[in-house]
Amino acid sequence: MSLGRSVGTSVGIDEISFYTSSYYLDLRTLAEQQQTDPEKYYVGIGQEKMGMAAPDEDIVTMAANAALPIIERIGREAIDTILFATETGIDQSKAAGVYVHRLLDLHSNCRVVELKQACYSATAALQMACALVARRPESKVLVIASDIARYDLDTPGEATQGCGAVAMLISQNPRIMTVSPDVGNYTDDVMDFWRPNYRSTALVDGKYSTKIYLRSLKKAWEHFSEVSSLNFNDFSYFCYHLPFSRMAQKAHQHLAKLNRCPLTSEQVELQIADTLKYNQLIGNSYTASIYIGLCSLLDNRDEDLAGKQIGFFSYGSGCVAEFFSGQIQAGYQSRLHTDRHQTLLSRRQEVSYDEYLSLYHYPDPQQGESLDIPKTTQGRFRLAAITHHKREYIPC
Ligand code: HMG
Repeated sequence: MSLGRSVGTSVGIDEISFYTSSYYLDLRTLAEQQQTDPEKYYVGIGQEKMGMAAPDEDIVTMAANAALPIIERIGREAIDTILFATETGIDQSKAAGVYVHRLLDLHSNCRVVELKQACYSATAALQMACALVARRPESKVLVIASDIARYDLDTPGEATQGCGAVAMLISQNPRIMTVSPDVGNYTDDVMDFWRPNYRSTALVDGKYSTKIYLRSLKKAWEHFSEVSSLNFNDFSYFCYHLPFSRMAQKAHQHLAKLNRCPLTSEQVELQIADTLKYNQLIGNSYTASIYIGLCSLLDNRDEDLAGKQIGFFSYGSGCVAEFFSGQIQAGYQSRLHTDRHQTLLSRRQEVSYDEYLSLYHYPDPQQGESLDIPKTTQGRFRLAAITHHKREYIPC
């Protein structure tokens, strides 16, 4: 029997798993086509590859694939809520998580809803999930973030495309990371990046967006410092929203400078280096990117992180930002899906520039015409057809 919120109950991430597309484009191929120096991408923005969704992959199939390993571990009956964060919505009304609920065969007493605020909404979902668990400690909430980042061809944003999904199980006494209720928020009505309903690609004022990102970091940090007893030096590692990895490096230098941090620039760099590794191979996955960054840290950092404080800066254009913290739990290693993540990345197929273009232009029937989609994904779920405006998802 639940006695309501128990004082001192810790809440946070009990499981975390990510998924990305079956294909990728190497940014050297893009640079060659554009007659640009590839170092602009490899060094200038710090990215090597970008994920390209196969025709039978989308936010739903990536989300179900990300969540599957968690469901296989904890069982189908455990989840009572799915909070699905995305800015690549496939429907104005129906939540994408409802398809995921069926694909994962979850029970019908589970509630499902979709959240939006550019790249930030997964963090809103995480905080709301923690609040739900604090209110009813036996509940388990599945937070999913899934996105496909798309910009127009031949624009500066093109090299910062990508895609991915992350699934996190939020529970009491979490075995990976507790999430502190102390957060610093910042909201401002700006037009740095947006996507009107009638467009499939984002519009962006690129240079302005990077300035707003840094300003939001400063403001969210200032608010966090007012509400939390933690200081910059209390954190061992930092996870940032990752539109491209150089952005996080600049942001972290900025934060270190704001705090007059005594560390060398190499030490500051080390505080984020492992969080960037997966993103450099996947590209921007919008809502998922900061949490794929956390997977990257947990999977790749070669030391026991138990007890370490991690700082998180979540940013969503438009804009809403949040700084919050988490503490890694002893024994977290046994909850990770490192082999699965690394196999997933190593099995992806590289595409040529022409193949990239045909994936980019793959038909998206908007007049109700029927489209059968051949199986190409390496995942366990796929989009098999679109008929009379209905998307048909099946297990593989
Ligand atoms: P650009 O204008 O083509 O690039 O686009 P650039 O000319 O500024 O070059 C980029 C960097 O590469 C520069 O370094 C160059 O010096 C360097 P910096 O001055 O910044 O340190 N460079 C080289 N380095 C080595 N060798 C070379 C070389 N050539 C140049 N040969 C821009 C850059 C980020 C504007 C563009 O990619 C873009 O518009 N991207 C999309 C917007 C974006 O990602 N904004 C990030 C902040 S907003 C955000 O994060 C939210 C978002 O995720 C959406 C959401 O919330 O939903 C986007």
